[in-house]
Amino acid sequence: MTLRTVIRGVGSYLPERTISNAELASQIDTSDAWIVERTGIHERHVAADGEKTSDLAIAAAKRALTHAGIDGAAIDLVVVATATPDQTFPATAAKVQAQLCRPGIPSFDVQAVCSGFIYGLAVVDNFVRAGQCKTALLIGAETFSRILDWQDRTTCVLFGDGAGAVVVSAEQGTGAGTDRGVLSTHLHSDGRHHDMLYVDGGPSSTQTTGHVRMKGREVFRHAVVNLADTVHECLAANHLTAADLDWLVPHQANRRILDSTAQKLGLDPAKVVITVDQHANTSAASIPLALDLAVRDGRIKPGQLVLMEAMGGGFTWGSALVRM
Ligand code: ACO
Repeated sequence: MTLRTVIRGVGSYLPERTISNAELASQIDTSDAWIVERTGIHERHVAADGEKTSDLAIAAAKRALTHAGIDGAAIDLVVVATATPDQTFPATAAKVQAQLCRPGIPSFDVQAVCSGFIYGLAVVDNFVRAGQCKTALLIGAETFSRILDWQDRTTCVLFGDGAGAVVVSAEQGTGAGTDRGVLSTHLHSDGRHHDMLYVDGGPSSTQTTGHVRMKGREVFRHAVVNLADTVHECLAANHLTAADLDWLVPHQANRRILDSTAQKLGLDPAKVVITVDQHANTSAASIPLALDLAVRDGRIKPGQLVLMEAMGGGFTWGSALVRM
């Protein structure tokens, strides 16, 4: 027998305000055609004035709790993956805990930028399998609009705000791949590439929040290689091939990365969940946003095998295999 971390509920939230490519093109030197061709993005959502990452996280978490049919009082761990917390501290997770859960339970943030949800899932899975938590809330939530340089066309067209959440709980499994729940997680980082995708500010360096800076071409090149590698390692660890997967739910960075990765894996493009067109790159929120959409529209069904993968600043990257 082995403990498994089973996804009980999913939820997401996108801020009401959207910015189309055409609206961006009216402000900076870009075009809808360039953005769609290079990224597949059509629009992004942007938090309202005063709307914070914790507000997005709480809205997504409420939907995940409702979907799971679980009361916030039953949660015994809250993890928020974010690179855009409300404040440097306290953790955004503590705000979620105060709003939705019992006082006294552990809550903390995980910072792995776009890989944050995969890192968070690995952390929560290890808590569950170690017997230290029975029911957890894992949220990816970001307000990247706050750290974009809206005059820099090489970055500002790529990102958006949003949040996605899962409620997981411990269940006894057999240890076999037929179990429901997280079957394996795989995490990596290579900080030698920290200057390819970073924010040019921070509490201990500039005492400012800073803006996103990126060497897009290099990021693209590393992303396609690292993502394919981690998918292969995840499949190998579970004695599977790409053909055994029901769904790939990738980090929604841009359409060309998703297509190149699927092609490199020889994966049927119809098995790849793609939502980047609707909300751009929402960093740690993008996997649970895509997962939520595909569960709610009936594509992803209980018992199906879902592989998730992500890469982000650091670089960090990783994958997770889950039977829903
Ligand atoms: N609108 C119009 N032209 C633009 C824009 C824009 N928004 N941005 C850049 N350009 C111009 C450049 O200035 C350049 O012009 P030049 O040839 O006159 O110098 C030209 O377009 C080509 O620029 P490149 O950077 O070479 O364009 P590329 O084809 O590499 O596409 C892109 C850029 C979309 C950023 C691509 O490199 C990419 O997708 N990189 C991955 C970045 C990413 O997804 N990061 C997210 C975080 S990491 C992750 O989540 C995996």
